[in-house]
Amino acid sequence: MNSTVEVCFVCLGNICRSPLAQGVFEALIKKENLQNQILVSSAGTSHWHVGNPPDSRMQQTARSHNVLLTSRGRQFQASDFKQMDLVLAMDHSNLNILQQMRPEAELQDKLFLFRSFDPDNNGDLDVPDPYYGGDQGFENVYQMVERTCPKVLDHLKTQLANKT
Ligand code: 4NP
Repeated sequence: MNSTVEVCFVCLGNICRSPLAQGVFEALIKKENLQNQILVSSAGTSHWHVGNPPDSRMQQTARSHNVLLTSRGRQFQASDFKQMDLVLAMDHSNLNILQQMRPEAELQDKLFLFRSFDPDNNGDLDVPDPYYGGDQGFENVYQMVERTCPKVLDHLKTQLANKT
């Protein structure tokens, strides 16, 4: 079977949180040799950083954990919902924006908060925006993303199994 599933991580600028989630997730699926079955991307709800590489502070934090970030800023489009099996918003504010652009009610089962998969969320479902803060904020985002991505992968493996 040649089935694939596709996930998109979405934050505001697409230069900090969602590129990190993309990079960590890419490394995970490569390790499991699933890169032909699970397709991964990221996007922003804003157009502010379209075409830009990830923020240098996010790149530095990722590099310190041996993760390479290769994305370029892209703005999420309503039409992307059709193609995606899973769209994960990095916080409530971006979830609200995505909910408003969602073209059809039946696509609702594709859209979730990223941290709803975080085994250690303690009821806090936002990945805090690190852009205006210090280095610790970027490391904090890394820790959340690292522990959450394997749970997202489990979910996608189930979706993949249901497709084949
Ligand atoms: P991100 O962080 O949504 O995690 O990419 C931000 C990046 C840029 C801005 C805000 C948040 N900005 O205001 O330009």
